[in-house]
Amino acid sequence: MKFIVTGGAGFIGGNFVHYMVEKYPQDQIINLDALTYAGNLETLQPVEGKTNYKFIKGDITDRDFIFGLFEKEKPDVIVNFAAESHVDRSITDPDIFVRTNVMGTTTLLDACKAHGIQRYHQVSTDEVYGDLPLDRPDLFFTEETPLHTSSPYSSSKASADLFVMAYHRTFGIPVSISRCSNNYGPYQFPEKLIPLMISRALADEALPVYGNGANVRDWLHVYDHCQAIDLIIRKGSDGCIYNIGGHNEHSNLEVVKTILQALGKPDSLIKYVKDRPGHDMRYAIDPAKLERDLGWEPVYNFQTGIRQTIQWYLDNREWWEHIISGEYSHYFEKMYKGRV
Ligand code: NAD
Ligand code: DAU
Repeated sequence: MKFIVTGGAGFIGGNFVHYMVEKYPQDQIINLDALTYAGNLETLQPVEGKTNYKFIKGDITDRDFIFGLFEKEKPDVIVNFAAESHVDRSITDPDIFVRTNVMGTTTLLDACKAHGIQRYHQVSTDEVYGDLPLDRPDLFFTEETPLHTSSPYSSSKASADLFVMAYHRTFGIPVSISRCSNNYGPYQFPEKLIPLMISRALADEALPVYGNGANVRDWLHVYDHCQAIDLIIRKGSDGCIYNIGGHNEHSNLEVVKTILQALGKPDSLIKYVKDRPGHDMRYAIDPAKLERDLGWEPVYNFQTGIRQTIQWYLDNREWWEHIISGEYSHYFEKMYKGRV
């Protein structure tokens, strides 16, 4: 089978490319990525030169390019990771989120419609369900939970999901959607909570915790996300949505303190800063459908996963130091100005 994986130079897409190239030597994996600020070819070094892998630079919103690529490569499966993924950036610049996350998705769907495809898989997020209150630990997001978005990012992802389902119903495109909780693991861009806190703690810099740090996220190791997507593409039902999560809920403060403890750094590095506007309180996934129908179970729990992840950032300093010493340092100054 021939796969086009979009956004494969990013965090989860990059991990998925590694996973697929290693696990399925008989399949062809084409990594299509525009190499935005979040795309990094250094992430792909372990698979470069493999005969079942190739990288193509391109933008999923470029209709002529995408149609030409489908015509030339005739892919069997599309897995769409390509997106603007950072909530804070969506608050300062929503337009690019509409363009990439919504129009990029419809461009890919149009190409699937024109050329035929075995499966289009949309990598979505639990953020499309909005948030849950802290005082109702009995509540979880199921696939039936109504869409109820908070940020421009989550709104763009929910819009894309609606287009995916509309193309399935109206044009008969074979699709699936996965909605995963917060990921962590190797190769995550250091604007996101866990790698940001690891890199700053190692430099003895202040750790900016939004609000009071009580917001809860449901953390899943990226490897478990990749395994779930692989299962859904191969065994999941056409037209179905699957939630992905491993019941690893932790407050931001717990996560930050775990990192500080593992690195032998003091809690005094924590700095409470102005909250994120519209900040979602709690995410919590019910993964029962994925477990029951497809037999998925995660390999990592948060304790083992966070230890492995911290060790990866210690062992791969060059990878993230290149990022934080470049263009990203200007972003950090702008985004956290007067906060840390
Ligand atoms: P990321 O920001 O690390 O990577 C995104 C990748 O997409 C980058 O390589 C970037 O260059 C590429 N890209 C952006 N715009 C593009 C365009 N127009 N054309 C082609 N490529 C483009 O993101 P991530 O954290 O790896 O997230 C990947 C996907 O998973 C996203 O769709 C996101 O919504 C979803 N998701 C993320 C998480 C999480 O915790 N990070 C959880 C659930 C779902
Ligand atoms: O739930 C899935 C989503 O998880 C994905 O769809 C998104 O692409 C991904 O970015 C992530 O969104 P979050 O907003 O939850 O992730 P982020 O790492 O930005 O923040 C995690 C929590 O930490 C959140 O409550 C905000 C808080 N935070 C974040 C940063 C960057 C801080 O307190 N300080 C910070 O500096």
